[in-house]
Amino acid sequence: MAISVRGVVARGKGEAVEVTEILVPEPGPGEALVNVQACGVCHTDLHYKMGGIGDDYPYLLGHEAAGVVEAVGDGVTDVAPGDFVILNWRAVCGQCRACKRGRPWYCFATHNATQKMTLADGTPLSPALGIGAFADKTLVASGQCTKVNPAIGAATAGLLGCGVMAGLGAAINTAGVSRGDTVAVIGCGGVGDAAVLGARLAGAKTIIAVDVDDRKLGWARDFGATHTINSRSADAVEGIRDLTDGFGADVVIDAVGRPETYTQAFNARDLAGVVVLVGVPTPEMRLELPLQEVFGRGGALKSSWYGDCLPSRDFPMLVDLHLDGRLPLEKFVSETIGLGDVEAAFHKMERGEVLRSVVLF
Ligand SMILES: NC(=O)c1ccc[n+]([C@@H]2O[C@H](COP(=O)([O-])OP(=O)(O)OC[C@H]3O[C@@H](n4cnc5c(N)ncnc54)[C@H](O)[C@@H]3O)[C@@H](O)[C@H]2O)c1
Ligand SMILES: [Zn+2]
Ligand SMILES: [Zn+2]
Repeated sequence: MAISVRGVVARGKGEAVEVTEILVPEPGPGEALVNVQACGVCHTDLHYKMGGIGDDYPYLLGHEAAGVVEAVGDGVTDVAPGDFVILNWRAVCGQCRACKRGRPWYCFATHNATQKMTLADGTPLSPALGIGAFADKTLVASGQCTKVNPAIGAATAGLLGCGVMAGLGAAINTAGVSRGDTVAVIGCGGVGDAAVLGARLAGAKTIIAVDVDDRKLGWARDFGATHTINSRSADAVEGIRDLTDGFGADVVIDAVGRPETYTQAFNARDLAGVVVLVGVPTPEMRLELPLQEVFGRGGALKSSWYGDCLPSRDFPMLVDLHLDGRLPLEKFVSETIGLGDVEAAFHKMERGEVLRSVVLF
């Protein structure tokens, strides 16, 4: 029988989100029912609300979450009731062409979650990134649950489920930042600051944070940026070149995802450097670049989905690094809020007042 719980739903493009009753069915084969304990507010939830991802309203928002497995369906052996888990939106399926070619971090079965949750009147909900965790309970594919040490606490653990993993992985996995590299990160929200932190963990020599908001630049310094540029008052490309002996950075990470920031990233990297796009563009955006420069500069133009992570490999490892005092995940939590405060948290995000608002249940 389906259980009735509260969930945060976006009913239409740009409309304020609301807390409403939703119905969560019992887990079927291969599924897990999770008691959500914490869920961060990611910019991607705001993209869903604003129509930037798709038009499959109503959406059940929330996807940066940790909680405890309450029940599992038939055939589930990887997690059991009582396990503390981080939810992921890219469970490795083992069956798709990427998995079969030994590249599971590109698994194409991205949204292999179930879509069985509904509004009280039976209207099907589209769970954000196949998760939908701004809800007391959510139903996911069991492969979307990664068991980790509960000592980390839910608020910080949940962040590894999206933004922080995306940023850390963009620097470490996708860009392959290494000791002595020069790195610039454009856009220093939760994702960009995680990229700053990742670059620092990987041993980068120079880490240049770029944002249009001085408060964000201050926080980026706390995460390890060695230099900052406010690109509202200064030219980001010139600034990055000046700080890298005139050459440009080895790695430039665009954690905004707009044509203008991508163009800055393209122009601010050294010859044979790497650009990583981790910010999510919207459907109408177009990019124009001189093709000769694309050729002549060499290097690589990459995109990073979920930091090219493998949840089962990376989540427990990052939890251990945090518990060892080497990964200050708690600094990303600007505030903890209730389920009814998600709309207000979107506005705080738009005004640049927070890195992460985290809903606690
Ligand atoms: N690729 C992935 O797997 C993945 C995962 C999570 C989030 N994202 C995306 O990453 C992006 C950032 O997410 P977030 O949660 O950190 O958002 P956020 O709102 O917390 O941060 C965005 C930052 O960009 C800054 N900014 C905006 N316009 C800018 C400009 N023109 N130049 C420089 N800085 C600018 C803002 O001041 C803010 O600090 C979003 O597009 C989000 O959808 C991608
Ligand atoms: Zn797969
Ligand atoms: Zn996210």
